[in-house]
Amino acid sequence: MEGAKTNMCYNVLDRNVKDENLGERVAFYWEGNSPDHHMAITYSQLLGQVCRCANVLKHMGVRKGDRVAIYLPMIPELVYTMLACARIGAVHSIVVSAEIDIMVSQCSILVTADGVYRGEKWINLKQIADEALEKYEHTHTCCVLVLHYRRQPSVNLSPVVFPVVQTPWDAACDVCWDEVMGQVSEQCEPEWLDAEDPLFILYTSESTGKPKGVLHTVAGYLLYTSLTFKYVFDHQPDDVYWCTADIGWITGHSYITYGPLANGGTSVLFEGIPVHPHAGRFWEVIEKYRVTKFYTAPTLIGNVERTPLLTNPVTSCRYDLSSLRILGTVGEPINPEAWLWYYEVVGQKRCPVVDTFWQTETGGHVLTPLPAATPLKPGSAVRSMWLQVFRRPWPGIMRTVYGNQERFENTYFKKCPGFYVTGDGRIDGYYWITGRIDDMINVSGHLLTVAEAAVVSRPHTVKGECLYCFVTLKDCREFNRSLVDELKRQVREKIGPIATPDFIQNAPGLPKTRSGKIMRRVLRQIARNEKDLGDLSTLADPKVEEVLFSQRCETA
Ligand code: WT7
Repeated sequence: MEGAKTNMCYNVLDRNVKDENLGERVAFYWEGNSPDHHMAITYSQLLGQVCRCANVLKHMGVRKGDRVAIYLPMIPELVYTMLACARIGAVHSIVVSAEIDIMVSQCSILVTADGVYRGEKWINLKQIADEALEKYEHTHTCCVLVLHYRRQPSVNLSPVVFPVVQTPWDAACDVCWDEVMGQVSEQCEPEWLDAEDPLFILYTSESTGKPKGVLHTVAGYLLYTSLTFKYVFDHQPDDVYWCTADIGWITGHSYITYGPLANGGTSVLFEGIPVHPHAGRFWEVIEKYRVTKFYTAPTLIGNVERTPLLTNPVTSCRYDLSSLRILGTVGEPINPEAWLWYYEVVGQKRCPVVDTFWQTETGGHVLTPLPAATPLKPGSAVRSMWLQVFRRPWPGIMRTVYGNQERFENTYFKKCPGFYVTGDGRIDGYYWITGRIDDMINVSGHLLTVAEAAVVSRPHTVKGECLYCFVTLKDCREFNRSLVDELKRQVREKIGPIATPDFIQNAPGLPKTRSGKIMRRVLRQIARNEKDLGDLSTLADPKVEEVLFSQRCETA
């Protein structure tokens, strides 16, 4: 489509409001961390706020092609800001772990909030952002601040749950959202862009190496997210769709913001976490908004599944889930037990499960069943939506690694010339994603795929490599020698002597990215006693690594 002109924001908002007459339709039901905080935003309201925000950015000197860093919680302002960038042709870079992203993408402006409650824990976003900016001596950076917990005086915030928090403020470069948004017009002409102009840069959560800035462009990404959303979720006008991902990850970009809005859909935008204020929060939200399509990650399915059946809020029929029509999963292989639980208990055997395999790099789904059209197999992402192998590019494919075209070519196109390589393994005619191929371990010439949580390799004088296993024990079971022997015996019996781990280490927690992926690179280095762990900025809990080091096994 090179040479053609378009604008993403125009397509997902103006077109829906003006041509499709959807101005009064709810675009988002925002549901806060606390069930008492919620609001509905229609398509025309959304358009108005986005135009205001676009005008604010323009006033602050942001121009077409400039990069804007966004470090915001799951609040409507996050969507306003990303769409405002799209409207004026600025390139957004949504930041999950502040430092790296700001540093690498060298944005001219940062939009953040005072902070956010995740459950009962206050996270001071502004302070984290300030520290990051200082570190990299960003002199030109302005900070637009959303006063998240003080902007709605009508909301009754109990001082116990929400203590007044001091927000660092520098009048020389910080600007207050409410103030500037009130000073600008609600009209803003979209900037007409070339189909191949950049839309955003997003850093991959990266479980294996240094984060890459994945760059997506306007027209192909618009087409691909819009189309995949429509078919994979069988979008219908009366749907209430809910994707539980964070917008800071590609899933949120493609399937909370762009795909659903391009289809004129109504979505839930959820700020909270699944267990606050109680373990039934997901089901409560589904019931409250009569959600029809629900899209989440196996880590979350796994979490709720592990609660004992009787106390599990979903099985005790405390919530009405009869509105559900399609269930989706994404992000990791889902094991067949979790799949069945999702299908039988949550979906009441009525809702097809779409196991969607894709990557930040692919922009949208590449392997997935189509609901009610493809026979399902628990645990399989089934088959390619449109293609059998990635022989030719599709509209949503990333265009480059930002600032490093060579890395782009080496990573994805060198291994099998003429094909795009995802780096994931699969078996039989259906696709069963077996994990990352860079996680395969070679023991005495036999290739074993890492099956569960955390098995990595360690050099071995005779075998080449041997297995080093990290186990997290359930329910305060004691980790001791006899347990280690028992585990080894089990593996030997169930899988075979070849799979018996040489080392089994107690792991109270595993190093994970914020999207729940185990960082095997870190585990591999712990197993090998390599002290320099490199870039840990994507790690959700940096403490885990110290604990694991202190408990590592020297001898088998
Ligand atoms: C990697 C991409 C796709 C958005 C969220 C993650 C793994 C993703 C599945 C699935 C098995 C999956 C792959 C892939 N993955 N979806 N349905 N079944 N594995 O995006 O951070 O770019 O990660 O996630 O390993 O390569 P990402």
